[in-house]
Amino acid sequence: MNKTATLTIEDKTYTLPVVEGSEGEKALDISTLRQQSGYITLDDGYGNTGSCKSKITFIDGEKGILRYRGIPIEELAEKSSFIETAYLIIYGELPNRKQLQRFSDLLTKCENLHEDMKYHFEGFPSTGHPMAILSSMINATSCFYPEVMKGYDPATFDLMAARLISQVRTIAAFAYRKAHGLPIIYPKPSYKYTANFLHMMFSEPYQDYELQPEVVWALDLIFLLHADHEQNCSTATVRFVASSRANLFASAAAGVCALWGPLHGGANQAVIEMLQQIHDSGDDGRKFIEMAKDKSSGKRLMGFGHRVYKNYDPRAKIIKARCDQLLKALKLNDPLLDIAKRLEEAALSDPYFIERKLYPNVDFYSGIIMRAIGIPIEMFTVIFAIGRMPGWIANYKEIMESGDSRIYRPRQIYVGPTVRPYMPLKNRP
Ligand code: ACO
Repeated sequence: MNKTATLTIEDKTYTLPVVEGSEGEKALDISTLRQQSGYITLDDGYGNTGSCKSKITFIDGEKGILRYRGIPIEELAEKSSFIETAYLIIYGELPNRKQLQRFSDLLTKCENLHEDMKYHFEGFPSTGHPMAILSSMINATSCFYPEVMKGYDPATFDLMAARLISQVRTIAAFAYRKAHGLPIIYPKPSYKYTANFLHMMFSEPYQDYELQPEVVWALDLIFLLHADHEQNCSTATVRFVASSRANLFASAAAGVCALWGPLHGGANQAVIEMLQQIHDSGDDGRKFIEMAKDKSSGKRLMGFGHRVYKNYDPRAKIIKARCDQLLKALKLNDPLLDIAKRLEEAALSDPYFIERKLYPNVDFYSGIIMRAIGIPIEMFTVIFAIGRMPGWIANYKEIMESGDSRIYRPRQIYVGPTVRPYMPLKNRP
């Protein structure tokens, strides 16, 4: 028998269907509440609102669990690659050998941008933030592929998705090269996804970048750990835009814009800026912790806290371990890593952070890995966007393939002035 819940408002009782997820999560279906009662629900920031049913990613924030299509993130991090995981996220199953080869070949075939797109890079100032360039260029890409303009079509989806996954990396590397006054390096078809990105970033026309397995491995892991994270701000934005039946590239470009903010993906840049500031001021972290606890300071401990995780972010645990391994392998000693570890230790034993269940999130240690690789700070959120692309694409596909998806259109409670007459300019004070 289907479960229901009853809600009493004033003297009337309403029956609401209970929806249960495959992991036992429960929700009240309030979609007909306004029609029945005149009431809507109010949930500023959507902290308690399920916006969709999804089969892609499961998170249990209290227990610190993250699974893509049912597979624990820890297993994927240990055994899979970014590209295999991207396939899993988009298509729902791990690929067999043939499917993986086909997917990988398609990505290679799609890796070059349309040659005319190169001229677009000329229009940006060298100081332009690469996230602005990335979102503009992803949107502009749709102009070169008229098929994508027609909206979702299962016959062309695989090609469109491969173009996006492959070209976001090419756009990112080209944006970096242009901003630094360096010649553009074209992709190498013989290289795998992450190695190819490093090649486009760091090779020179006269000398190939020397690929170190530990570096490729660490960056591939960063991409994999960022590949999806259910209804976060940018993915919800992608779904929002897609719900109006905007094309895949337009929806993904909107995701990049949402990701840019310092409370979301931009936090990885903000973490390094914070650690650098602490380092430069000679603080051992204690002063900054005090500031982060004082709301009037306007500071937060960046890389700490999460809307869903009220426990250690499982991605942060994996990244922290890989960060130690990479620095050891490269024989690097980064003082910012020591500060980060001290801050973590201090915060995790401080009642302010304990009471609010604030733990390190994925962004706390990822920047240290990227610094060690030589990726400049303004590219950090771009790296996140490259990683998150499979998740955005999977969510786009899910919304397009669900027969009953409607345009996203929340309501509001209006709290502005009530009706009043227009006052002519001459009578206004
Ligand atoms: N430092 C200090 N205090 C914090 C922090 C922090 N990093 N995060 C939350 N708090 C405090 C808030 O001030 C609030 O305190 P109060 O109850 O006394 O008012 C309480 O903890 C709850 O915080 P909210 O802002 O209501 O939590 P919300 O779920 O809205 O925000 C967020 C989550 C945005 C991630 C927040 O923790 C934050 O700003 N963290 C720093 C930025 C960051 O690392 N973002 C990356 C998130 S992961 C990602 O997007 C990939």
